[in-house]
Amino acid sequence: MSELIIRDLRATVENKEILKGVNLTVRGGEIHALMGPNGAGKTTLGSVLIGHPSYQVTGGQILLDGKDITYATPEERARAGLFLAFQNPISIPGVKISTFLRTAFKQLHPEDKTGVNEFFDNVKKHLKKVGLDESFLSRAVNDGFSGGERKRFEILQMIILRPKIVVLDEIDSGLDVDALKLVADEIREYYSQDVGFLIITHYQRILKNIEPEFVHVLIDGRIVKDGDKELSLKIEEEGYDWLRSVA
Ligand SMILES: Nc1ncnc2c1ncn2[C@@H]1O[C@H](COP(=O)(O)OP(=O)(O)O)[C@@H](O)[C@H]1O
Ligand SMILES: [Mg+2]
Repeated sequence: MSELIIRDLRATVENKEILKGVNLTVRGGEIHALMGPNGAGKTTLGSVLIGHPSYQVTGGQILLDGKDITYATPEERARAGLFLAFQNPISIPGVKISTFLRTAFKQLHPEDKTGVNEFFDNVKKHLKKVGLDESFLSRAVNDGFSGGERKRFEILQMIILRPKIVVLDEIDSGLDVDALKLVADEIREYYSQDVGFLIITHYQRILKNIEPEFVHVLIDGRIVKDGDKELSLKIEEEGYDWLRSVA
């Protein structure tokens, strides 16, 4: 069973302290929602988890299955089983999506013997499920994608690359109601394989489709409240102001 432990994590962006001691544990088979107002540091946490170079860790630890990945490269983190869909994924012009998926899969699962045909049959099955056309495979990674295409592609990557712990930052942004349902169905299907999820979101919207067991509220770089689904419903009705006094 996988386990991501975030322990007293502190981080700065351009010398400004954004994360001020975040503690959070996500295990395989659990869905956690991280909520919080704009500017709370949610995307910063996601970026620090993937090892984005613009963010400096100044204290604390990130452990994945007991391995300290606090200062690991993004590739090392991915190999350890962590997956992050970026709020604004970078484009890799010139690299076809089909090539990218096959190469990344082989790097992450060198022991897997799935042949090329079987691999792409599975890719095509899930392309359809997330509502993307087969011609998508010939396009370059994130090159000129619409917001919705990016989000669908993130979910496709998750399914194909088979990470153990998944962090999704604002996965619902840019998706209409129908697309959100497709994406939520895929997330639920993948979750059934004992995968741990950290769903970062400003709004309750996605949480209607994917019910979290655990809800955490981040304000000003600290988790100020932990709860369950009821907490996210209360936030939908009352906003975040009632939580600011404890921040
Ligand atoms: N690359 C960056 N450069 C400068 N400031 C940043 C950068 N990324 C985030 N910040 C600042 O960090 C704070 C938290 O931002 P962010 O993590 O994006 O919050 P959230 O995702 O909760 O809205 C904000 O004050 C934002 O201006
Ligand atoms: Mg954000």
